Formats: sequence, structure tokens, C-alpha cells
Amino acid sequence: MNILENISLKPYNTFGIDAKARFFVDITGLVQLQKVLELKAYPKKFIISGGSNMLLTKDIDALVMHIKLEGISIVDENEDTVEIKAMAGENWHKLVLWCLDRGYGGIENLSLIPGNVGTAPIQNIGAYGVELKDVFVSCTAMEMATGELVAFDKDECHFGYRESIFKNEAKGKYIITSVNLRLTKRDHELHTGYGAIEGELKNMGIVYPTIRDISDAVIAIRRSKLPDPKELGNSGSFFKNPVISKKAFDKFIKKNPKAPHYETNDDQFKIPAGWLIEQCGFKGKRFGDAGVHDKQALVLVNYGNATGQEILALSEQIQEEVHKRFRIKIQPEVNIIK
Ligand code: EPU
Repeated sequence: MNILENISLKPYNTFGIDAKARFFVDITGLVQLQKVLELKAYPKKFIISGGSNMLLTKDIDALVMHIKLEGISIVDENEDTVEIKAMAGENWHKLVLWCLDRGYGGIENLSLIPGNVGTAPIQNIGAYGVELKDVFVSCTAMEMATGELVAFDKDECHFGYRESIFKNEAKGKYIITSVNLRLTKRDHELHTGYGAIEGELKNMGIVYPTIRDISDAVIAIRRSKLPDPKELGNSGSFFKNPVISKKAFDKFIKKNPKAPHYETNDDQFKIPAGWLIEQCGFKGKRFGDAGVHDKQALVLVNYGNATGQEILALSEQIQEEVHKRFRIKIQPEVNIIK
């Protein structure tokens, strides 16, 4: 087992924050993972996988376990559907492409989301009208205290909008090792209702889209709005879209009749945080190397050498301004490591 010391985590988080790991080890197998968890010499442990949903605001004084568990397999199939098992360290978009190559439908709308398979259930990744929970069957996780593998079915994961048990009761207790998804082999349920997808398919001249066409449309939309972490450090949407009560919404929309909004199925209203942030004048603004993306105000970016503290300070300034102007509290979606 190769335990390294004082390693920069810059290549391991999509924000590109140059925080250091006191100790660092690549995890490539389940037995090795169990052994590392048992190591008494390193009592403090920290997990990093795709590093696409975290903001590191300090060095990590622990053993950083970099999850590199790999493999995708079919566990069950019939004429109509297939259940696949993907190991946690697989790149999410690579899994989407693997499915498209085989004609498996269900995750094409989730194309190009940065990060790895194991992180997908933690925040119930979602985009363009589809969430992970729509295709999720179960996941396996290793309990950190015991090294035991535990299965979580869909109900047990308590999925919500960018939420799951792994962000709440189970936080810090488990390492997700694999995820099972059920996908369609034919009669795919296409989700093209999301405005931007319809428009993009039209641009592409497509009337009867295949799952590959939908993926291509999503990729085109994402590329036009969201920065590629390889070129500009970022963590996707930094904030969640706030959900407010009908009473608060009525007041809000009177004052802001042009605000985009969506009614949720429990009589509440979701307001795009990107719009609120843009109204406060932050879109495209840069403060040193920390900034707000010029094409999507919900995305904070690192122009090169921003520290996690600088990004955090900017996010707090945005929260304050949005609250001052709209009386709405926006909360980070990204896991802030303080
Ligand atoms: N808007 C603005 N200004 C901005 C950004 C957005 O006015 O700078 C307005 C848009 O004009 C539109 C509305 O806000 O009317 C919604 O914008 P968009 O379709 O870009 O989606 P979003 O609500 O900002 C969410 C997800 C994204 C996901 C898209 C598409 C969250 C927190 N974010 O963004 O997810 O890709 O919908 O489904 O729910 C992520 O989680 O990292 C992520 C990128």
C-alpha cells in the first residue's frame, strides 16, 4: 500500500483548489479499502472521488482516500430493461457513453455532468428534467467504522432535490463503492420537455430524437453555458435553486413580475438562483482569481490560483446580497470543507 505524504489536491478537485493532503492513498479494491479503514496509524480519514462537488477551504490533515474503484457490468436483463452495476470510481460521463453505445436509455439527459459514479447518489445529480433517482435501483457502501458492505435501496436513500441520506443522517459514515441503475433497452422514455433541449433539437434539425440525439443536445447546451473544469476550475451550480412558500412567492412575484419560476408538486415555488444572482449584478464579475461565470451566474469559477477561502468569501457575499435584495436565502449545493 503506497501512502504518500503532503500531496497537492489540485488535480483531484474540479475547482482546482491547491489544498494539501497530509497523507494520500489511491483505493483500487474493496479489500484494500477495508484494510485502509483499519489502519490505526491514520485515525482521521477523508474521501475524495471525482472531486466535482466540493470546495476545499483548507489543507486536509488526514489520510485522503482517493476512490479509484473501476468496472461496469450487467447484473440482470430482460427484453425491455437492463440493470447495470458501476463501480464508484468510474467517471460519470464515461458511464453515460457506455450506455449510449449499447442503446441503454435513461441517463442521456445527465450527459457531461462532471464527477464520478459514487458521488452521483450523494446529491442525486440532476439536469434537464431527469434526476439520478429516476433510474436508481440501489447502491453499496462500506461503513467506515466497521468495514462492512451495506446495501441501500432507493427508498433508503431518501432522495430529494440535490439531497440524499448521504448528505444528512449518513454523512461521513459510509463510502459508496458501487451503484446499480435500471435502464431501458427499447421504448425509451424520452425527456425532451425541458425548454433548452427542445430548442437545441430543433437547431439540430431533429424531429424524432434518439437517446444519442438527446445526449448530443445536452452536451451542446452544457458546453455553451457551463465551463469545462479542465479549462476553468468550477463545481457546477454552486447554490441550490431556492424553494419558497406560496405566500412568499406571491409577494416576490408582485415585486419581480419577470422572474422565471417553476411550481413544485407540493404547492411551493422554485426560483432559479442564477437569475437572482444575475439581478444582483454578479454575473461575469471577477474578484482576483475568484469569479462568477459570465454565461451562468449559478457557477462560481477559479481563474487559476483562487484559494478555497476566496471562493467561500465570494459565495457568502452573494448570499448576503441576494438576501438583502430579495429576502430569499440561497444555500450552497457544493460540499464546503471547512
Ligand atoms: N438564469 C438567469 N441568469 C443566469 C442563469 C440562469 O437569468 O445567469 C435563468 C435562465 O434564464 C432560466 C433559469 O434561470 O430562466 C434556469 O436556468 P438554467 O436552465 O440554466 O438552469 P438552472 O436552474 O440555473 C439547474 C441545475 C443545473 C442543471 C440545469 C439544467 C440546480 C442547482 N442547477 O440550473 O445543474 O444543469 O438546471 O437542468 O438545480 C449542477 O447541479 O451542477 C448543475 C449544473
